[in-house]
Amino acid sequence: MSTTPETPRKRGLSTLPGLRRFAPPTPITADVIDAEGDEFLPWAAPGSRLRVNDRAAAAGFYAPSEAGAPSSTRQAAVLNTALIAQPTGTDGLVIGRDGLSQTAAAHDPSTAYNAKPRRITSPNVVCMGDVGGGKSSNTKCNYVARPLTLINRRVVVFDKKEENGEGEYSPMARAYNSEPIRFAPDGSGSRINPLDKNIIRGTGARGQARIIRNIVQLADDNKPVDKWGREAIRIALRRTFAQFEDRRRTATLADVLPHLGDLADTDGMGLSPSARDRLHQAGKSVLFTLHDLLDEYGGMFDGETSRDVDLAAKLTSFDISGLNEDSAAVPVVMSIGYQWLLGRLKSETGTFTNVIYEEGWHMVAGPSVRLLQSSQKLSRALGISNVFVMHKGTDIPVDSVGMAMLQEAQTIHVYRQSHAKDAQWCQKYFSFAPETAEAIMNLEQGEQIFKYASNPEIRLRHLRSEWEVGLTNTDTGMSAGN
Ligand SMILES: Nc1ncnc2c1ncn2[C@@H]1O[C@H](COP(=O)(O)OP(=O)(O)O)[C@@H](O)[C@H]1O
Ligand SMILES: [Mg+2]
Repeated sequence: MSTTPETPRKRGLSTLPGLRRFAPPTPITADVIDAEGDEFLPWAAPGSRLRVNDRAAAAGFYAPSEAGAPSSTRQAAVLNTALIAQPTGTDGLVIGRDGLSQTAAAHDPSTAYNAKPRRITSPNVVCMGDVGGGKSSNTKCNYVARPLTLINRRVVVFDKKEENGEGEYSPMARAYNSEPIRFAPDGSGSRINPLDKNIIRGTGARGQARIIRNIVQLADDNKPVDKWGREAIRIALRRTFAQFEDRRRTATLADVLPHLGDLADTDGMGLSPSARDRLHQAGKSVLFTLHDLLDEYGGMFDGETSRDVDLAAKLTSFDISGLNEDSAAVPVVMSIGYQWLLGRLKSETGTFTNVIYEEGWHMVAGPSVRLLQSSQKLSRALGISNVFVMHKGTDIPVDSVGMAMLQEAQTIHVYRQSHAKDAQWCQKYFSFAPETAEAIMNLEQGEQIFKYASNPEIRLRHLRSEWEVGLTNTDTGMSAGN
């Protein structure tokens, strides 16, 4: 930085002892060294005029009687370290440029979670904001493309948004030599079996029963299955698995149906005739709901899991963009897919997997969230980071499990929220500073508020390489990258 200012040679009045008081103040000179040319150096700036008249001073007409210490902006920066210092550290992957310090911001949930000591307690991520703000671009770059440059990384995405007749991640999947796994309501696409052996392997028989319960609830307008129904499901699953123990084929949903409401195994339970009746009815009620679901989406869930449902490539995309937004099929594929993944990853330890849910509220706002929550321990043990990408949080009940899941996430990206109540929601539940709510409403496209663990949030601009721009520009698709 600058060198010590030379002491100026004294001239004129100031050299005469009696008259010195009438002399103008000695100008402070300093070397103006500003190698980068981007720093404000105050030496030459006029500053406040100093007066030298004692009488005026006595009357209180004086500006500061002492010259202030000159300071450069860089020196002043230490007075406000929280804002000016490089905010994220340098570990992980570069995720963008910090708005205040203009330094690179870096973060990666896997790196931060596996650091010793841990820098985050949960590897889960939330990316929230209005449509068109840049959430998917952020996700594609920071949770797909950049992590995949590292070894032992894998990405699985549940791709909800349609673009050019298929999921928006499809071109990206192909760029990694992976054909998207497409689900279609008419059954012309892939199939995933809710009774797949990978699910049992992941979360056991209890997890399996939970999956069926979850499916029934989703297919029945979100009405929870009562305890009679739950018992009927347990009985039916037990019978099905006993029947399939030594068969080579995996049991499917159709194999469970005949056992729902079947009371053959209940003789030892000491049930009264009316209790038996009630259990029978509960079983049949589950059966009818499953009939409804299979009527509509049989091709997607009934039968063995298709061979293309696999983790052969670094990037696996479950393309669910063809499914109706409001149908039960979306969260059903997401939750069965996730449970399948847990079992599948058990045989592939040593990789870290980002699981991305575009339209993540399907997972956190409905019954699937209980499945997700109950498998969080396993999910962490297997090295999974769940990335929830969603529009807003205001429609998630405050004391719900979904809310707890969102708040548990330790990496937060918030894009522009144009409605004050959505911005305030983020401020409140992600524990941002009060003024950040307004900042959220004024973010530009590609700008975000970023926070990890309990560090203060920063305003960040996500920057993309040319290749990434081609992959993430929704209007141009892959062509821009060519
Ligand atoms: N970091 C960025 N810098 C510049 N433009 C961006 C950036 N991120 C996104 N955009 C632009 O915004 C558009 C919408 O981005 P997208 O990620 O699809 O938003 P969202 O998923 O929030 O709806 C993209 O087509 C792109 O042109
Ligand atoms: Mg998007």
